[in-house]
Amino acid sequence: MRWGGGGPRSGALPQLTRRDALLAAGALPFSCLAQPPTSTTTLQQLARRSGRFFGAAVQPEQLARDPAFRAAVAAHCGVITPELALKWGAVQPTPRRLAFDAADSLAHFGRRRFLKMHGHTLLWHRSVPDWARSAIHEPNGWEVVRRWFEIAIPRFKGTTIWWDVVNEPIEPQDHAQGLRRTPFLQAFGADYIRRALESARALGGDGAKLLINEYGLEYPDAEDEARRRQLLHLVDALKRAGAPLDGIGLQAHLRLSRGNIDQEVLAAFLRELASRDLAIVITELDVREADYGLPVAQRDARVGDAVRQLLQPVLDEPAVRGVITWGLSDRYSWMNHEGESGFGVRGGNRGLPLDAQLAPKPFFDALAETLRYARPAVAA
Ligand code: G3I
Repeated sequence: MRWGGGGPRSGALPQLTRRDALLAAGALPFSCLAQPPTSTTTLQQLARRSGRFFGAAVQPEQLARDPAFRAAVAAHCGVITPELALKWGAVQPTPRRLAFDAADSLAHFGRRRFLKMHGHTLLWHRSVPDWARSAIHEPNGWEVVRRWFEIAIPRFKGTTIWWDVVNEPIEPQDHAQGLRRTPFLQAFGADYIRRALESARALGGDGAKLLINEYGLEYPDAEDEARRRQLLHLVDALKRAGAPLDGIGLQAHLRLSRGNIDQEVLAAFLRELASRDLAIVITELDVREADYGLPVAQRDARVGDAVRQLLQPVLDEPAVRGVITWGLSDRYSWMNHEGESGFGVRGGNRGLPLDAQLAPKPFFDALAETLRYARPAVAA
């Protein structure tokens, strides 16, 4: 394995020139967009060197009200993920009310800057509209799911290249086959995942790659090992059934309290996924700190080390197509919302590439460095 090196620290974020910032903010005419930013090495440019993409989860309000943040997203990202806007509960709160404004504005932002969108997420037990929770138990309840797919998938055809078709279906404690007892499992049985993939393929064609997205796959402890085993069992069952599964999303929400990642264990798991002809995307990378009382420089160094520990084996795997962080700046991290550990902490949780002032941190450096020295990805 080539992980000892990693090359020199990439240094501070090269400053965007005024032209690049205006370009990225969409403040210059389309004619200028033809020439991409020239004077900076952005995370997307580093990712493209190995045939990959870099992206971040965002909310439209953050882009609309914060030009500096908007410029950073447009400069560094080749893909954006709607953090909230494409969840069923957010889009269809009642059977006849469709709230696509937020997702549409993100798709428009992406199209104007040649960014793609990562479709998050079609089926997730934590975002099922109340009316749908009961409707799916009615006779022909699957039609409710299929109609949701029918309004969501074609709307973003061409803009959305990846769909998290089923989010977090694994829960070893819940079900004999290690599947979480979601409303969909209860209504349709274990076969709901195959049906979801087939419905999504029928509506999205081959243009959109279909993923199962999951958390808790990264650490060497018994909990994550059970989740990795159950996921591979699910993948094998889906492959036997001929389900159109294109890949797996590893959310990669890291927690410093869980200790080190065993790079060999993680690399072996990635190889098992790749051997099943699956693409791999890191879909929600961020780091939850463990000791907020340390000096900030030490906190940031620990976060950067955790990111490097994850990404060295990840970016040594050709089946990995891209890395998406769950936010780009601590200024908008979900972990600093009420009820989360970083809420109210001095400066909040520092678990993203840029700090709240949009300055790069060791997280950014670790990301840039591992992208710079990544093994080429397999052709998409
Ligand atoms: O905007 C309202 C605000 O007006 C209101 O005062 C406040 C009351 O708590 O709620 C705010 O909405 C919150 C929203 O985030 C925006 O901040 C919702 O309550 C809260 O549930 C929502 O949480 C999101 C969560 O998914 C549930 O959708 C997080 O931001 C988002 O980061 C998180 O993302 C998930 C992925 O989708 C799946 N993987 C795990 C990841 C983290 O949980």
